[in-house]
Amino acid sequence: MPARRPRIGILTGGGDCPGLNAVIRAVVKSGHRLGYETVGFLRGYEGLVDPVAWTPLDPTVVANILTLGGTIIGSSNSGRFTALVGENDRVAIDPKLLTAAATTLEQLRICGLVCVGGDGSLSIAQQCHEHGMPVVGVPKTIDNDLGATAFTFGFDSAVATATDALDRLHTTAASHERVMVLEVMGRHAGWIALHAGIAGGGDVILLPEIDWDFDHVCRAVTAREAEGKRYTLVVVAEGARLPGGASVHAGDDGKRRQVRLGGVGEVVAGEIARRLGREVRAVVLGHLQRGGAPTTFDRVLATQFGAHAVRLIHEGRFGEMVCYRPPDIASVPIAAAVSRLSLVDVGSSAVLAARSLGISFGDDPPATGACAG
Ligand code: F6P
Repeated sequence: MPARRPRIGILTGGGDCPGLNAVIRAVVKSGHRLGYETVGFLRGYEGLVDPVAWTPLDPTVVANILTLGGTIIGSSNSGRFTALVGENDRVAIDPKLLTAAATTLEQLRICGLVCVGGDGSLSIAQQCHEHGMPVVGVPKTIDNDLGATAFTFGFDSAVATATDALDRLHTTAASHERVMVLEVMGRHAGWIALHAGIAGGGDVILLPEIDWDFDHVCRAVTAREAEGKRYTLVVVAEGARLPGGASVHAGDDGKRRQVRLGGVGEVVAGEIARRLGREVRAVVLGHLQRGGAPTTFDRVLATQFGAHAVRLIHEGRFGEMVCYRPPDIASVPIAAAVSRLSLVDVGSSAVLAARSLGISFGDDPPATGACAG
């Protein structure tokens, strides 16, 4: 009888994003070549416990999923495994659940578990690691808010979708001489708004990282009008705080511990209309940013992450998370990755370039020095 192959497990946790299937494919295919079987746990961490839910994954099963959006093994960002990080503190997972998950791994002969997730899911992975489970992490999120990696996969695809939306809003805004406000995702980080705002020719970009007010926003609109440009594109991050400091929440479904952000676009649009008496429309891009095929950048990044995660397991380097340190893929302790969220640096070259072009962040731009001589 042939010897049984060692087994790798994989799960995808938190909000989905383009590129998850590319990671799954890379784990299965590269693992197969190193002599591993792979099983996928369904619906995130929930698949590890009562009822245990898993499916065998082999190169045939993952054929043709490289470009597929979503995740073929499902995901969850609510339920028994919910570990808050970010603006809130980490929540400890019930030790009985962790013990049940560890038992599942033992019973299924899993020698390494790949946990693909954002800050919340990786914080759970860290707790699994501290509980003695052989886990490695892969960072995913459209929000790009994980500090230990230059980029998470999913971000580039979300930016591409938001940029496409701005391209489309541009023509209708110009035709009707309107102010169009586009609300994009990103939670408490403004990466999507900043990058899409630059790529899509936004005129005003409102970020969680920069305090702004309506006087400056309206001044940007009227300044454009004075230049003969009778339309304005405003990009607002869902986590951008209103003047006064409050963020806008989209209600609570009671199933999770983190509040849902959303609605700031309507507030901004309403106030611009009220102050300037102009026609303003708000568009919430929402989950379109999370769906569909990954960009080429995300396919390449996700594939490298998956293959590197298998290498970490092969070398017994548990408790580590793969990361992107251009031009290489490297790894860091998961604990380091979840302890520091990555926010837009207000002095970064991207922000400075935007300001140089006259893009308003709804604030007083810092003074720039003139050339001597
Ligand atoms: O973290 C990814 C993300 O899409 C955020 O940008 C957004 O705030 C949140 O998830 C939305 O979550 P849900 O799909 O649960 O509404």
